[in-house]
Amino acid sequence: MFIQVPKGTQDILPDDAPKWYYIENKIREVLTKYGYQEIRTPAFEYTELFIRGIGESTDIVTKEMFTFPDRKERSLTLRPEGTAPVVRAYLENKMGRASKVVKLFYIGSMFRCEKPQAGRFRQFNQFGIEVIGTKSPEADVEVIMAALEIYEKLGLKNLEIVINSVGCKKCRVDYIQKLKKFLRNKKDLLCLECVKRYEKNPLRVLDCKKDSCQKIMETAPMITENLCPECKLHFEEVKSHLDDFKIKYQIDHKLVRGLDYYTKTAFEIVGKGLGAQNAIAGGGRYDDLVEELGGKPTPGVGFAAGIERMIMVMNQQKINWPKPKCIDIFIVKVSEENKDTAFRLLQKIRNSGLSADLDYSNGSLKSQMRIANKIGARYTVIIGEEELSKDMVTLRNMQTKEQKKVKLDGNWEDLTPREEIHGNYKNKRY
Ligand code: HAM
Repeated sequence: MFIQVPKGTQDILPDDAPKWYYIENKIREVLTKYGYQEIRTPAFEYTELFIRGIGESTDIVTKEMFTFPDRKERSLTLRPEGTAPVVRAYLENKMGRASKVVKLFYIGSMFRCEKPQAGRFRQFNQFGIEVIGTKSPEADVEVIMAALEIYEKLGLKNLEIVINSVGCKKCRVDYIQKLKKFLRNKKDLLCLECVKRYEKNPLRVLDCKKDSCQKIMETAPMITENLCPECKLHFEEVKSHLDDFKIKYQIDHKLVRGLDYYTKTAFEIVGKGLGAQNAIAGGGRYDDLVEELGGKPTPGVGFAAGIERMIMVMNQQKINWPKPKCIDIFIVKVSEENKDTAFRLLQKIRNSGLSADLDYSNGSLKSQMRIANKIGARYTVIIGEEELSKDMVTLRNMQTKEQKKVKLDGNWEDLTPREEIHGNYKNKRY
């Protein structure tokens, strides 16, 4: 029995890898246009970062983290999300000194020990952006627009934006009191999980997915009706900018999200018809997080999006994946005696900027041609005794089947214009 991938993880196989770099290229293209710079943080951090950043009583911290000690018994955790690490890096590298507003993006694997199901993995990939250093509601809207533009450029349709305001430290305290008062004599009707939430994190009762809890919460006081003037104005401005750009959204008073750092704006982008795991992106403002992680009070806003879920939507919506670039030239040896010549020629062609390969398995002429077809080679160069004695080889166009004799030390650069190795996807020739 061979060893299999751990539960909740998956291989990205060569057939699928081009989809990933196509998506990643689009993300980089759009976010660079919006003025974001890429940051790469480690895959693991000290556990304390997530306890303080995400919140002690959140599902992520209480039951979903992959935590392990290092050799000196310091507790480390595989990052379950990217915001706390980015804020840690922002503080550690004093990024706020160089510019007041810092705009960062990241693409990488996150790890959560959840029950795997469609669209929910234990290792999954997110891209995300964080704007640190501005309170401006325009930044909240920019973040949403950047996400939408990436989805639009990739051809995703039928997405819905759901927004809410979760208030700030000040107004939330009063709201939580009201909510607790409302729930006090209904505790028996709540699910077991929500009874715990009532004590530790009552806001989370709002977005419990169980029917019984949802029914109770229908008549619960709404957070948006209990915002302080500053949070109320902020929410109004965010909505007004969205209206201005004709971006459609739904307000969901129950949207509170699973991470404790949110203040004011919280939002999700959901894919219609995706089932239970329909959130393809989520984010919001986190005006207290920098301070909670030891910095000066500094506001922030951002979002993260699941790439696997995005690919699920793209496949579901039958979006055409651009074809990746195939090999330019496959070298075919008529006899194994020509293998040294073939090997030298292979490298010469590669040095000229074309992609080239040959078969190392001593296969027959027929099997080498089969490989060339299978990998979609544009040309084959056939090395046969007779031609070789005249320092010539045969060049075969695999599409037109035309063949001609060319010089062995000919100018291969003239054959075809050089293209980027990682795919000029607009090129439909292949
Ligand atoms: P989140 O809502 O926990 O937010 O995750 C963002 C997105 O990551 C989700 O909408 C979903 O697409 C994807 N995702 C989450 N968990 C899984 C999973 N187990 N399997 C597959 N995909 C998953 C955050 O992570 C925040 N850091 C977002 C943020 C950035 N807020 C402010 N800045």
